[in-house]
Amino acid sequence: MIKFILNDKDVSTDLPAGMVMLDFIRYQQNLKGTKIGCREGDCGACTILVGELMEGEVRYRTFTSCLMPIGNAVGKHIVSIEGINLDGLNPIQQAMADEGATQCGFCTPGFVMSLAGHCLSEKEPTAQDVLASIDGNICRCTGYKSIERAALLVNELLSAKGSKRNVDFVTENNILPDYFAAIPKRLKTLNESEANQHIFKSNNQQINFASGGTDLYVQKHDSMTHAEINFLSDQKFLKGIEKVGNRCMLGGSTTVTDLCESAIITEYFPAFKKYAKLISSTPIRNMATLAGNFVNASPIGDFTVFFLSLNACLILSDGDIKRELPLREFYKGYKSLNKKVTEYIEKIYFELPDKDSKFNFEKVSKRTHLDIASVNSAITIRVKGKEISEVFISAGGVGPIPMMLAKASAFLAGKQISPEVINQAIHIAQTEISPISDARGSESYKRLLLSQLIKAHFIELFPEIKLETTLV
Ligand code: FES
Ligand code: FES
Repeated sequence: MIKFILNDKDVSTDLPAGMVMLDFIRYQQNLKGTKIGCREGDCGACTILVGELMEGEVRYRTFTSCLMPIGNAVGKHIVSIEGINLDGLNPIQQAMADEGATQCGFCTPGFVMSLAGHCLSEKEPTAQDVLASIDGNICRCTGYKSIERAALLVNELLSAKGSKRNVDFVTENNILPDYFAAIPKRLKTLNESEANQHIFKSNNQQINFASGGTDLYVQKHDSMTHAEINFLSDQKFLKGIEKVGNRCMLGGSTTVTDLCESAIITEYFPAFKKYAKLISSTPIRNMATLAGNFVNASPIGDFTVFFLSLNACLILSDGDIKRELPLREFYKGYKSLNKKVTEYIEKIYFELPDKDSKFNFEKVSKRTHLDIASVNSAITIRVKGKEISEVFISAGGVGPIPMMLAKASAFLAGKQISPEVINQAIHIAQTEISPISDARGSESYKRLLLSQLIKAHFIELFPEIKLETTLV
């Protein structure tokens, strides 16, 4: 039995846990305000809020309901557009109307939900953040300027919030309905109930693993609905980001948003949020997990390439037996993994960069944001003076698997940084890759991109060496 709160109502259901929340809301609950657009997490028409109890408070995040199995809703507060209605238009809806931010209206519930998520965010409300909150919503007819103006109006509603808790402020000021104030208590009761604990089964060949679902449900929507699923996203033992000595340990179900909000990640990778914005929209970052990204085995998985260059290791487990494996040895061929069907990624770890180390991530795609890479690459490089002591360069989109460029990396170790050495490393990298022509570019274009991205790493990381005049 799956139990959660949907808007103001307690829900229990025996429906298949693999059914997506979008279908549950529309076809089981007859709440048709949540729209179906792409069913691939791209358009945001199906955006909902997902509230999770964290240390006594409810933390709300936007999710695309088309990719969220109801098995990931256990013990949570799910909010559809109907759940934020007041007697008349609420101030968010009013702002959209006042600014002429809606025409056909198809996208509007999704934008309103994203803005409601901003109102419930625990962060200080800023103009930059309110605009970022709608980065997962697409409108095909209004034009974004009026929507952005409406978003800024919504942000102004929060200007008097002061130190008040968000939920108190938005309920007291009639931005969102009163019932939100009682949700923490209701979720606490729900989560304490024995019957509502997350079920975890291991060692069963018949059971599929699912994590955030952001790719699985794009690829296998129909078969996942009735599959037996082992839900990993909310397993406490798969969560958390911690520093142990000089090592960073990440639970397999760490989401991209968890990484963005981690003090450890921000300290060691100050540009992390900039990289994350290149990778996906806010709702997808809220759902997608690291383990999911690795197991997906996409040859252009952005985070796979990111962690390959950190020389990360995986701890795989089948519930009883654990084993460690370097991420670079996880891929045997196209979508083929060094993993038994009963194994899942329990943890990921890597050595945190020291004072001599630098990191960079580069990506080229047809659109700058929210697009699949044509080619991506990351580098971790340790340098003393001008001499490279160790380097790991990874690349995606240039072969059947996300790759560590082992030969080029080995060549660079012990060398002094110079345009000649970098060009030689690029030449070696070209012998390691085997890109194919596809929708994301021809073979020759991808080869050119990789060369340029390797140059970009050095130009970005070593501006004092003035490499650009000779490399570009
Ligand atoms: Fe487009 Fe869900 S329907 S993101
Ligand atoms: Fe028509 Fe946005 S108002 S898609």
